[in-house]
Amino acid sequence: MSRWPDNRLTDLLGIAHPIVQAPMKGTTTPALAAAVSNAGGLGSLGCAYLPPEDLAALLGEMRRRTNRPFNLNFFAHGPVAPDPEALDRARARLAPFYAEKNLDPPPERLEPAPEAFAPSHLDALLADPPAVVSFHFGLPAHDAVPRLREAGCRILCSATTVAEARALEAEGCNAIIAQGWEAGGHRGAFAVGADDEGSGLFALVPQIVDAVSVPVIAAGGIADGRGIAAAFALGAAGVQLGTAFIRCPESAASEAHRAAVAAASDTSTRLTRAHSGRPARSHRTRYIDAMAAETRDLPHFPLMYPLSVPLQATGDPDFQFSLYGQAGALARAEPAADLMARLVEEAGAALARLGTGRAPQTRPGAEEPAPAS
Ligand SMILES: Cc1cc2nc3c(=O)[nH]c(=O)nc-3n(C[C@H](O)[C@H](O)[C@H](O)COP(=O)(O)O)c2cc1C
Repeated sequence: MSRWPDNRLTDLLGIAHPIVQAPMKGTTTPALAAAVSNAGGLGSLGCAYLPPEDLAALLGEMRRRTNRPFNLNFFAHGPVAPDPEALDRARARLAPFYAEKNLDPPPERLEPAPEAFAPSHLDALLADPPAVVSFHFGLPAHDAVPRLREAGCRILCSATTVAEARALEAEGCNAIIAQGWEAGGHRGAFAVGADDEGSGLFALVPQIVDAVSVPVIAAGGIADGRGIAAAFALGAAGVQLGTAFIRCPESAASEAHRAAVAAASDTSTRLTRAHSGRPARSHRTRYIDAMAAETRDLPHFPLMYPLSVPLQATGDPDFQFSLYGQAGALARAEPAADLMARLVEEAGAALARLGTGRAPQTRPGAEEPAPAS
């Protein structure tokens, strides 16, 4: 495809194809992101919780691997104080699992979590600004967005509702990632513990497109050219795909994660708070099913991790935390450059198929010759 149905995102970001490889903390690597950028998409790195002093080396590595635009992504939650009652409830609820695995009891106290994107992260980015910076869980509370924009960065952020999308546009985002319920990984909803009814992508994208004037990037359940074509039909100017890239050899996904996606079906994931404290779409396990009823009262993100990580670390598949979305069965094991070429070709074919279809008649029989009387 040389020209896409909507070129606002490609023009905004300076890329050939409106395909963003999703930032995936712990799964994306410089090799993956650079391969996608070199193939004409936007490669992204999940940099959540990376110490700010490590950012300069990461930016240097990315610039050695590609001279195309790439995206660094951060979580944007504020400081999180432990809630002793939530901790007590979680300790009681997890005690049988700990006993089953012969683990020492869950921790009796939790350390507060600091702000995820601190002023020191901002300073490190301003010293060597990447073309694109994206955020998840809303935007940082300080003046990061105007300062990054002044430095020439384009800003993207996930929205899971129309209200979130409107707020992001008002705060200066250059494009908005509409994240549907189907999406793998954590939902980007701003509020911790809020009721989250979760719109599917087909309902969400056109409503966000109608509500904002910046380009909208559709994310969630898209893993081939048919999904990309559908996103354009819904009014999106681009797509963000995460699950589709997990099985690429360049990703850092564990063998268990790759195997879970390779065996995925439409029903093999479930949204859970039981690992991190925030809703995340993950490979469905016995632990996730057992915890489904109580997850609202667990310690807030990210303070559930210290309780769930010892269970994950046992290696027992019942406690596996492997993030992927509802379209996992469409993901294939192939190098990122091949995947990008296939997505572009498939999307072109799907769009051409739709483009050659005849428009339906608005009045049945309008083109029929008048019946002989
Ligand atoms: C393994 C995994 C990790 C993720 N980590 C992040 C992250 O660090 N930052 C972020 O903004 N989104 C993250 N996401 C969500 C993606 O940005 C995106 O919304 C999602 O992958 C789209 O749905 P799909 O997986 O069905 O393509 C992650 C998704 C997955 C599957």
